[in-house]
Amino acid sequence: MMNQQLINPTTAVKPLLSGFQLGSHHINPPVVLAPMAGITDLPFRRICRRFGIGLTVTEMIASRAVEQGRERTQRMAELDDGESPVSIQIAGSDCKFVVDAALWAVDRGADFVDINMGCPVKKVCKQVAGSAMLRNETLVAQVIDAVVKAVDIPVTLKIRTGWDDKSKNVENIAKIAENHGIQMLTVHGRTRAQMFNGHANWDDIGRAKSVVSIPVIGNGDVIDGESAIQMIKASDCDGVMVGRAVQGNPWVLAKVHAAIMGLAQPKAPTPAEIWAVVEEHMTHLASFHGVRRASKLARKHVAWYTKGLNGSADFRGTFQRLDDWQQQLDVAQAYFSSEQVLEHAA
Ligand SMILES: Cc1cc2nc3c(=O)[nH]c(=O)nc-3n(C[C@H](O)[C@H](O)[C@H](O)COP(=O)(O)O)c2cc1C
Repeated sequence: MMNQQLINPTTAVKPLLSGFQLGSHHINPPVVLAPMAGITDLPFRRICRRFGIGLTVTEMIASRAVEQGRERTQRMAELDDGESPVSIQIAGSDCKFVVDAALWAVDRGADFVDINMGCPVKKVCKQVAGSAMLRNETLVAQVIDAVVKAVDIPVTLKIRTGWDDKSKNVENIAKIAENHGIQMLTVHGRTRAQMFNGHANWDDIGRAKSVVSIPVIGNGDVIDGESAIQMIKASDCDGVMVGRAVQGNPWVLAKVHAAIMGLAQPKAPTPAEIWAVVEEHMTHLASFHGVRRASKLARKHVAWYTKGLNGSADFRGTFQRLDDWQQQLDVAQAYFSSEQVLEHAA
């Protein structure tokens, strides 16, 4: 359910984007939560869903890991009740393993299978997976072909703009993707060589968009409603994917949603509203992962929620040292209702 406090339908004007069809699903709003390894688990996606997104994607799952059948891999692909439309993202370059992983994703209840050809991590690239695939266009076509033929749900692709500045091939890859049956393409406007540095090049996203007729999702450096609008104008993309800016700040999604829909920008959350979301997030972390693991994960998530608030550095210093779940809850609650935070927000 969308947060009605944040998104007021009475102020609606003409939407900038009206969504698009992907298989039997209409993706609307065309706002996508970026897959982020170690972050976009089921509890995080559950929280984000309420802030105006039309599609969630699991974190990347290596096709070799699927083959090994580990419990942890199963958990990474666990979908929430009613979480739809949702994509399970897989990675790999060996067609047999990638196809098996795609079939496994279908069994897990995915609406779409997303293939990762954007991951810049050395370990992944060494196996010619993730963004390393972009250097071998024949392999790109083979992997896409194999997956598209194997599953009866839409297959989507997430890429970077190329390996490095000298070998940018975003248009070629976009055309290969469309010709081989990819139904939606997400472009992170950086090369692999850029890792996460510099700026995302939104014009490069536009280059991909200009050569295909499938929906193109723009990604990279969207941090609020204004930047989402700028990216759409620069690239003519059909949807917006947001990643890092959402860490500890799912309200960014409501801002992006409002901007795309032509709605008034939502008010900043009060400390009480932030705490309500933090508490809910912590509760979901504990019930999904168990308190031991939740306690570790809470350290990064809760710290992110305090970014920019008065006394947050001191709070983080204390919070990071706590192991006891109840203590973590108590200390976080005390912080969000403390004078320094309330005064800062007033
Ligand atoms: C910690 C982290 C983990 C990520 N994991 C994945 C992943 O599993 N799959 C993927 O396609 N991209 C992954 N990404 C890339 C994001 O999906 C996104 O493309 C990138 O962060 C740029 O978008 P942003 O500027 O909105 O963050 C990850 C990014 C970060 C920061």
